Amino acid sequence: MTQVRIAPSILAADFSRLGEEVSAVARAGADFIHVDVMDGHFVPNLTIGPVVVAGIRKATDLPFDVHLMISPADPFVQAFVEAGADVVTVHPEAGPHVHRTLQAIRAAGAKPGLALNPGTPAEIVEPLMEDVDLILAMTVNPGFGGQAFIESQLKKIEALRRMIDASGRSIMLEVDGGVNAQTAKRIVDAGADVLVAGSAVFKGDPSAYAENIAAIRRAAE
Ligand code: DX5
Ligand code: ZN
Repeated sequence: MTQVRIAPSILAADFSRLGEEVSAVARAGADFIHVDVMDGHFVPNLTIGPVVVAGIRKATDLPFDVHLMISPADPFVQAFVEAGADVVTVHPEAGPHVHRTLQAIRAAGAKPGLALNPGTPAEIVEPLMEDVDLILAMTVNPGFGGQAFIESQLKKIEALRRMIDASGRSIMLEVDGGVNAQTAKRIVDAGADVLVAGSAVFKGDPSAYAENIAAIRRAAE
């Protein structure tokens, strides 16, 4: 049985109480905190920068999984690592020199992750298997929370799982977008071991978060 990790996306949190929201999901059983960084250019939405990451860093010791939906990413890698990112994930679609970006993330002291949009084939990671610690399969088009899971991506998750197993390296396979208690089982059966969930975790008041996370975990395991 796969040990599944749940990474609540704070994009769905109440931003007027962000630190408390991070503490609440940490107490509720989260494994990672997923931070969605958007630039209004690579994706049609704007969210948060390194100062906010540094601010919420005080709210928990859980690893921060920082998903950069920005182009270019390189000028901001160091700042996000200094702000407290443990994993920094970038999109190959966001710039021409993704191998350099992955090296810069590792040199800065974080784990490098590579995120693939729904329209990007699994094969793009093949030459980069040595350089990544996490692969993120997007199951919505990035930019917004609360979108519907794109079923066609299950085959790509299966292909990525085969590639990771063949590599012999310990690479996390994370899935992001439309993850909830209804979709989690198919996603984990396809090979994922880290589930990002925004709207399915931050629903109801904070007293509901533990059950929201547990429901996804039960469905997945
Ligand atoms: C979308 C983000 C996701 C988003 C997921 O661009 O990368 O992390 O917050 O939200 P839900 O879980 O609501 O689909
Ligand atoms: Zn994300």
